[in-house]
Amino acid sequence: MCDIPSSDDLLAWYDRHARVMPWRIPPQDRKDGREPDPYRVWLSEIMLQQTTVAAVKAYFERFTARWPNVRALAEAKDADVMGEWAGLGYYARARNLLKCARMITDEMDAIFPSRYEDLIRLPGVGPYTASAVVAIAFDHPETVVDGNVERVMSRLFNIHTPLPLSKNELTHRADTLTPATRPGDYAQAVMDLGATICTPKRPACGLCPWTNNCVGRKSGTALELPKKIPKKQKPTRYGFVYFVQREDDAMLLERRPDKGLLGGMLGWPGSDWSEAPEENAPVQASWHPIKSQVRHTFTHFHLQLSIMTASVSPGCVPQRGEFVAKSKFNPSELPTVMRKVFDLVKST
Ligand code: ADE
Repeated sequence: MCDIPSSDDLLAWYDRHARVMPWRIPPQDRKDGREPDPYRVWLSEIMLQQTTVAAVKAYFERFTARWPNVRALAEAKDADVMGEWAGLGYYARARNLLKCARMITDEMDAIFPSRYEDLIRLPGVGPYTASAVVAIAFDHPETVVDGNVERVMSRLFNIHTPLPLSKNELTHRADTLTPATRPGDYAQAVMDLGATICTPKRPACGLCPWTNNCVGRKSGTALELPKKIPKKQKPTRYGFVYFVQREDDAMLLERRPDKGLLGGMLGWPGSDWSEAPEENAPVQASWHPIKSQVRHTFTHFHLQLSIMTASVSPGCVPQRGEFVAKSKFNPSELPTVMRKVFDLVKST
């Protein structure tokens, strides 16, 4: 049998190996009394949902440079926030981010709540984010469980029940280890351990502060864990996209409705996305298909887009969308799938 893993051992490891992140207070500074800014913790945790630390860093830096506090973000224009979020994916996060910033500013005098029960009521804040903010921003003992923590717990306790069935058990196990001292650092330490030592494919067990407590390692099963119920295969959907350029180089763009996939984002007008999409060109024109297609994968389906291009005269009045002058158009404000369309059109 193995001894119960000690949070002190993990915290001592974290003191030496904590990853440097723009939203994080390093452990030594934390001990010296420097406190985290709940706004930065909240923003980083929303960005980190379903997204890697590496991808988030640059977005976080740009967001906080432009909107340094929750009040500034609440006053931002929707289109500016959606534009800064472009490329990060899961755009409902950006819409909820704004709703949440405005709620905190208007109803809470721009002060973040510190209790789980209050945080969980905010738009876009689920159990993971609420506990992460409570632990990291307010240093209250709350257990934070993300994919990294699930992997660490399943190995430490040699749990073979597959995810997601094992979620409650893994959370309960994690709960038993959360300490009353330095819970914020501890939460980040377990995530760092999962991300850098207890990795999916080649865990560095020799460097792990919990190596002697790990039942999975002792049983030789760590590498198989966590088990997962196989995911359903994704279906493929199809669609048409219309790239319309005026003689003065202005391009026809359309903002998508707030609800639904890519809601609130700018894009090229197009058809529905389905098994058998119907063409619905936004202007009368002579259309030229592009030979290659754009492929993109969303959470629940693969998408293949056929692109039609047309040139139109300055008097053209579209049925949908708006012409945007070339000088006002910034491709970095497009979500990735629409950016792929633009790049393909430009390369042909
Ligand atoms: N993943 C999500 N939030 C994190 C954090 N605060 N530290 C490390 N990894 C994370």
